[in-house]
Amino acid sequence: MKLEPREIVDQILPHRIPALDLAEAYAPANIALCKYWGKRNEALKLPLTGSLSISLAELGTRMRCRVAETDGLEINGETQAPDSKAFRRLFSFLDLFREAGTCFQIQSTNTIPMAAGLASSASAFASAVNTLNLLYGWELSDRSRSILSRIGSGSASRSICPGFVEWFCGEQADGMDSYAEAMDVSWPEFRVGILRLSDAEKAVSSGVGMQRTMDTSVLYQSWPAQVERDLPVLREAIREKDFACLGKTAERKAMAVQATMSAAWPPILYWKPESVVTLQGVHRLRADGVEVYATMDAGPNVKLLFLEQNRDEVQSAFPDLQVVQPFGTTCQD
Ligand code: DP6
Repeated sequence: MKLEPREIVDQILPHRIPALDLAEAYAPANIALCKYWGKRNEALKLPLTGSLSISLAELGTRMRCRVAETDGLEINGETQAPDSKAFRRLFSFLDLFREAGTCFQIQSTNTIPMAAGLASSASAFASAVNTLNLLYGWELSDRSRSILSRIGSGSASRSICPGFVEWFCGEQADGMDSYAEAMDVSWPEFRVGILRLSDAEKAVSSGVGMQRTMDTSVLYQSWPAQVERDLPVLREAIREKDFACLGKTAERKAMAVQATMSAAWPPILYWKPESVVTLQGVHRLRADGVEVYATMDAGPNVKLLFLEQNRDEVQSAFPDLQVVQPFGTTCQD
């Protein structure tokens, strides 16, 4: 039996009558430490494996939604045409939640660049669900909001929560057991560094990239088993605050997922020359004894993982680094 996204949404929403005319909410972007790469159900964005991420605190999407006469979308102050990709993707998601005849004027502001592998779709869909939750007065749990966000974009399931977040693969056909949950760990010294090497929109979307990889890459076959082995390692490293183990596992997972893509046909290569130069710089820093690790997603940008104690060395090697403190600004600043 094929389950339609709207049927799943029906099971979660108490009603479809807006309680307010206007609502606004935020969701952070997130960077996967163990990647989501491959689906078992495309329409419901059900993953083939679990994944684990870190949410990026103040880097994310703020969305404002007003009930109106017509639909409209502004992203970072720019009006989007109704036939643009962003408009169509967001409104076909919003259609799952509203009655025919209800229209929305949406203003979305990103503090993270869009479509360059910096997870802007994750924060966009999660902030949309958070905003609708207020607009309709649903008072949904984190779990329900995670399931709903996932239907917009898989990685959005993790953007509902702060800090380290695990998205459980689940096994049910309706996806009700495939949601994300925050880990009960605070690591105030943990840093994520964002290196914006390119804001250009990627040629192959992550959704298309993962499907092509599953269909054509000989290296994909070993991916689910690798995740099964490495997810518990990562979870434990986070609980024990074993940074070396976390960094090494995350970097290896990132490189492994890039390898699966480059063995797809046609090959998917998100890297730019600057990405390679950056990765080599990270290797050099590590050889000099600085504990810094790299991760990449469906785009050329490189994200660094390090601790506050190494911030000066990392920042002087990468002067353009934007440093994110996922657990706030209380420590050592
Ligand atoms: C490489 O969540 O963008 O960033 O579910 O098709 O919308 P769809 O894909 P998306 O994929 C993200 C892939 C990734 C890894 C990750 O964030 O786990």
